[in-house]
Amino acid sequence: MTPDTSTGSTFHQLCAERGRAFPLLTDRLLLSPFTAEDLHEVWGYWRLPETTHWMSRRYEAPEQLRDRWLSQGSKFTVRRRSDGVLVGDVGARLQDSWAQQEAADHARGTQAELDWTLAPQHQAHGYAREAVRALMELAADLGVRRMHAGCFAENTGSWRLMEALGMRRETSTIRESLHRDLGWRDGVGYAVLAEELPPRH
Ligand SMILES: CC(C)(COP(=O)(O)OP(=O)(O)OC[C@H]1O[C@@H](n2cnc3c(N)ncnc32)[C@H](O)[C@@H]1OP(=O)(O)O)[C@@H](O)C(=O)NCCC(=O)NCCS
Repeated sequence: MTPDTSTGSTFHQLCAERGRAFPLLTDRLLLSPFTAEDLHEVWGYWRLPETTHWMSRRYEAPEQLRDRWLSQGSKFTVRRRSDGVLVGDVGARLQDSWAQQEAADHARGTQAELDWTLAPQHQAHGYAREAVRALMELAADLGVRRMHAGCFAENTGSWRLMEALGMRRETSTIRESLHRDLGWRDGVGYAVLAEELPPRH
Protein backbone atom coordinates (compact mmCIF):
# COMPACT_ATOMS: atom_id res chain seq x y z
CA MET A 1 0.00 0.00 0.00
CA THR A 2 1.20 3.50 -0.73
CA PRO A 3 1.93 5.71 2.26
CA ASP A 4 -0.66 8.45 2.57
CA THR A 5 1.38 10.86 4.65
CA SER A 6 4.89 12.18 4.51
CA THR A 7 7.12 12.55 7.53
CA GLY A 8 8.00 15.96 8.94
CA SER A 9 11.77 15.50 8.73
CA THR A 10 13.90 15.47 5.61
CA PHE A 11 16.72 12.99 5.11
CA HIS A 12 19.27 15.81 5.42
CA GLN A 13 17.72 16.80 8.76
CA LEU A 14 17.89 13.20 9.96
CA CYS A 15 21.60 13.10 9.04
CA ALA A 16 22.22 16.35 10.94
CA GLU A 17 20.25 15.19 14.00
CA ARG A 18 22.36 12.03 14.15
CA GLY A 19 25.61 13.99 13.70
CA ARG A 20 26.57 12.38 10.39
CA ALA A 21 29.68 13.91 8.86
CA PHE A 22 30.09 14.56 5.13
CA PRO A 23 31.46 13.93 2.62
CA LEU A 24 30.65 10.24 2.80
CA LEU A 25 33.49 8.29 1.21
CA THR A 26 33.29 5.21 -1.00
CA ASP A 27 36.15 3.58 -2.91
CA ARG A 28 35.97 6.11 -5.74
CA LEU A 29 33.36 8.69 -4.74
CA LEU A 30 32.37 11.44 -2.32
CA LEU A 31 28.72 12.03 -1.40
CA SER A 32 27.68 15.39 0.09
CA PRO A 33 24.32 17.04 0.72
CA PHE A 34 23.40 19.26 -2.24
CA THR A 35 23.98 22.99 -1.69
CA ALA A 36 23.33 26.02 -3.88
CA GLU A 37 27.04 26.05 -4.74
CA ASP A 38 26.61 22.80 -6.67
CA LEU A 39 23.90 24.23 -8.88
CA HIS A 40 26.00 25.22 -11.87
CA GLU A 41 27.54 21.75 -12.23
CA VAL A 42 24.27 19.91 -11.59
CA TRP A 43 22.46 22.05 -14.16
CA GLY A 44 25.10 21.06 -16.70
CA TYR A 45 23.45 17.63 -17.05
CA TRP A 46 19.95 18.23 -15.64
CA ARG A 47 19.22 20.69 -18.47
CA LEU A 48 19.79 17.91 -21.06
CA PRO A 49 16.72 16.16 -22.56
CA GLU A 50 18.48 12.78 -22.40
CA THR A 51 18.89 13.17 -18.63
CA THR A 52 15.23 13.96 -17.96
CA HIS A 53 13.64 11.71 -20.60
CA TRP A 54 12.46 9.19 -17.98
CA MET A 55 12.49 11.48 -14.94
CA SER A 56 9.39 12.49 -12.96
CA ARG A 57 9.99 16.10 -13.85
CA ARG A 58 12.20 18.46 -15.79
CA TYR A 59 13.03 21.99 -14.70
CA GLU A 60 12.67 25.09 -16.85
CA ALA A 61 15.40 27.00 -15.02
CA PRO A 62 18.23 26.13 -12.62
CA GLU A 63 16.63 28.19 -9.84
CA GLN A 64 13.59 25.89 -9.91
CA LEU A 65 15.81 22.87 -9.39
CA ARG A 66 17.78 24.60 -6.63
CA ASP A 67 14.67 25.68 -4.69
CA ARG A 68 13.03 22.26 -4.93
CA TRP A 69 16.15 20.34 -3.99
CA LEU A 70 16.89 22.59 -1.04
CA SER A 71 13.35 22.29 0.29
CA GLN A 72 13.22 18.51 -0.28
CA GLY A 73 16.41 18.00 1.71
CA SER A 74 17.03 14.66 0.04
CA LYS A 75 19.69 15.16 -2.62
CA PHE A 76 23.40 14.34 -2.50
CA THR A 77 26.00 15.28 -5.04
CA VAL A 78 28.33 12.51 -6.18
CA ARG A 79 31.91 13.55 -6.90
CA ARG A 80 34.89 11.51 -8.01
CA ARG A 81 37.50 11.33 -5.27
CA SER A 82 40.44 11.47 -7.66
CA ASP A 83 39.64 14.88 -9.16
CA GLY A 84 36.49 16.26 -7.46
CA VAL A 85 34.50 16.14 -10.71
CA LEU A 86 30.74 15.97 -10.17
CA VAL A 87 29.48 12.78 -11.84
CA GLY A 88 25.84 12.84 -10.72
CA ASP A 89 23.42 12.93 -7.84
CA VAL A 90 21.46 10.51 -5.68
CA GLY A 91 18.56 11.09 -3.33
CA ALA A 92 16.67 9.59 -0.42
CA ARG A 93 13.26 10.97 0.45
CA LEU A 94 12.18 10.03 3.92
CA GLN A 95 8.58 8.80 4.10
CA ASP A 96 6.11 7.34 6.54
CA SER A 97 5.30 3.71 5.81
CA TRP A 98 1.68 2.76 5.47
CA ALA A 99 0.25 1.72 8.82
CA GLN A 100 -3.04 1.22 10.53
CA GLN A 101 -4.10 4.38 12.30
CA GLU A 102 -3.31 3.07 15.80
CA ALA A 103 0.25 2.11 14.77
CA ALA A 104 0.97 5.15 12.59
CA ASP A 105 3.36 6.81 15.06
CA HIS A 106 5.68 3.81 14.78
CA ALA A 107 5.72 3.99 10.98
CA ARG A 108 6.86 7.60 10.66
CA GLY A 109 10.06 8.14 8.71
CA THR A 110 10.70 4.42 8.42
CA GLN A 111 11.15 4.18 4.66
CA ALA A 112 12.95 6.12 1.95
CA GLU A 113 12.30 6.58 -1.75
CA LEU A 114 15.61 6.53 -3.61
CA ASP A 115 16.58 8.25 -6.86
CA TRP A 116 19.68 8.58 -9.03
CA THR A 117 20.96 10.52 -12.00
CA LEU A 118 24.38 10.39 -13.62
CA ALA A 119 25.70 12.89 -16.14
CA PRO A 120 25.74 11.10 -19.53
CA GLN A 121 29.53 11.16 -19.83
CA HIS A 122 29.90 9.44 -16.44
CA GLN A 123 27.50 6.53 -16.99
CA ALA A 124 28.58 2.89 -17.35
CA HIS A 125 31.47 3.15 -14.88
CA GLY A 126 29.59 1.66 -11.95
CA TYR A 127 29.38 5.04 -10.19
CA ALA A 128 25.60 4.87 -9.75
CA ARG A 129 25.87 1.46 -8.15
CA GLU A 130 28.65 2.59 -5.80
CA ALA A 131 26.87 5.82 -4.81
CA VAL A 132 23.43 4.29 -4.25
CA ARG A 133 24.94 1.43 -2.27
CA ALA A 134 26.55 3.99 0.07
CA LEU A 135 23.28 5.89 0.36
CA MET A 136 21.41 2.70 1.23
CA GLU A 137 23.93 1.85 3.93
CA LEU A 138 23.65 5.36 5.33
CA ALA A 139 19.85 5.15 5.39
CA ALA A 140 19.99 1.74 7.08
CA ASP A 141 22.43 3.10 9.68
CA LEU A 142 19.98 5.89 10.43
CA GLY A 143 17.16 3.44 11.08
CA VAL A 144 15.36 3.46 7.72
CA ARG A 145 13.88 -0.05 7.44
CA ARG A 146 12.82 -0.15 3.77
CA MET A 147 14.09 1.51 0.61
CA HIS A 148 12.11 1.63 -2.62
CA ALA A 149 12.07 3.19 -6.06
CA GLY A 150 10.14 2.96 -9.29
CA CYS A 151 10.71 3.68 -12.93
CA PHE A 152 9.23 3.25 -16.38
CA ALA A 153 9.68 -0.36 -17.50
CA GLU A 154 11.59 0.89 -20.56
CA ASN A 155 14.17 2.65 -18.37
CA THR A 156 16.42 -0.37 -18.52
CA GLY A 157 19.44 1.41 -17.00
CA SER A 158 17.44 2.25 -13.92
CA TRP A 159 15.89 -1.15 -13.20
CA ARG A 160 19.13 -2.98 -14.01
CA LEU A 161 20.77 -0.74 -11.42
CA MET A 162 18.10 -1.71 -8.88
CA GLU A 163 18.62 -5.40 -9.57
CA ALA A 164 22.39 -4.97 -9.29
CA LEU A 165 21.79 -3.37 -5.89
CA GLY A 166 19.84 -6.39 -4.68
CA MET A 167 16.46 -4.67 -4.81
CA ARG A 168 13.44 -6.87 -5.49
CA ARG A 169 10.86 -6.22 -8.19
CA GLU A 170 7.66 -5.95 -6.17
CA THR A 171 5.31 -4.34 -8.67
CA SER A 172 4.88 -4.48 -12.38
CA THR A 173 2.14 -2.32 -13.84
CA ILE A 174 0.58 -2.18 -17.28
CA ARG A 175 0.20 1.21 -18.97
CA GLU A 176 -0.30 2.83 -15.57
CA SER A 177 2.24 5.68 -15.86
CA LEU A 178 1.82 8.67 -18.18
CA HIS A 179 4.98 9.79 -19.99
CA ARG A 180 5.01 13.41 -21.16
CA ASP A 181 5.95 12.43 -24.75
CA LEU A 182 5.24 8.71 -25.09
CA GLY A 183 1.81 8.37 -23.50
CA TRP A 184 0.77 5.57 -21.10
CA ARG A 185 3.64 3.21 -20.30
CA ASP A 186 4.35 0.19 -18.12
CA GLY A 187 6.05 0.72 -14.76
CA VAL A 188 8.11 -1.31 -12.30
CA GLY A 189 8.61 -0.87 -8.56
CA TYR A 190 11.53 -2.24 -6.53
CA ALA A 191 12.31 -2.39 -2.82
CA VAL A 192 14.75 -3.83 -0.32
CA LEU A 193 14.66 -4.09 3.46
CA ALA A 194 17.61 -2.74 5.42
CA GLU A 195 18.10 -6.18 6.95
CA GLU A 196 18.52 -7.65 3.45
CA LEU A 197 21.46 -5.45 2.47
CA PRO A 198 24.65 -7.44 1.98
CA PRO A 199 27.29 -6.96 4.67
CA ARG A 200 29.79 -4.20 4.04
CA HIS A 201 33.11 -5.14 2.58
C1 LIG B 1 20.00 5.02 -14.34
C2 LIG B 1 21.45 5.44 -14.39
C3 LIG B 1 21.81 6.21 -13.14
C4 LIG B 1 22.32 4.17 -14.47
O1 LIG B 1 23.66 4.57 -14.68
P1 LIG B 1 24.78 3.54 -15.07
O2 LIG B 1 26.00 4.33 -15.30
O3 LIG B 1 24.29 2.62 -16.13
O4 LIG B 1 24.89 2.68 -13.76
P2 LIG B 1 26.20 2.23 -13.05
O5 LIG B 1 26.97 3.43 -12.68
O6 LIG B 1 25.85 1.33 -11.94
O7 LIG B 1 26.94 1.47 -14.18
C5 LIG B 1 26.66 0.13 -14.42
C6 LIG B 1 27.44 -0.31 -15.62
O8 LIG B 1 28.76 0.22 -15.58
C7 LIG B 1 29.69 -0.79 -16.01
N1 LIG B 1 30.90 -0.69 -15.16
C8 LIG B 1 32.06 -0.22 -15.63
N2 LIG B 1 32.96 -0.19 -14.66
C9 LIG B 1 32.37 -0.66 -13.53
C10 LIG B 1 32.80 -0.87 -12.19
N3 LIG B 1 34.05 -0.59 -11.77
N4 LIG B 1 31.91 -1.36 -11.30
C11 LIG B 1 30.65 -1.66 -11.69
N5 LIG B 1 30.19 -1.47 -12.95
C12 LIG B 1 31.04 -0.98 -13.85
C13 LIG B 1 29.03 -2.12 -15.94
O9 LIG B 1 29.16 -2.70 -17.20
C14 LIG B 1 27.58 -1.79 -15.63
O10 LIG B 1 26.75 -2.23 -16.65
P3 LIG B 1 25.89 -3.60 -16.54
O11 LIG B 1 26.02 -4.13 -15.14
O12 LIG B 1 24.50 -3.19 -16.86
O13 LIG B 1 26.52 -4.45 -17.55
C15 LIG B 1 21.73 6.30 -15.64
O14 LIG B 1 21.35 5.61 -16.79
C16 LIG B 1 21.02 7.64 -15.64
O15 LIG B 1 21.45 8.58 -14.96
N6 LIG B 1 19.93 7.76 -16.40
C17 LIG B 1 19.22 9.03 -16.55
C18 LIG B 1 18.47 9.41 -15.31
C19 LIG B 1 17.42 8.39 -14.91
O16 LIG B 1 16.76 7.80 -15.75
N7 LIG B 1 17.28 8.21 -13.59
C20 LIG B 1 16.32 7.30 -13.04
C21 LIG B 1 14.94 7.80 -13.12
S1 LIG B 1 13.80 6.61 -12.46
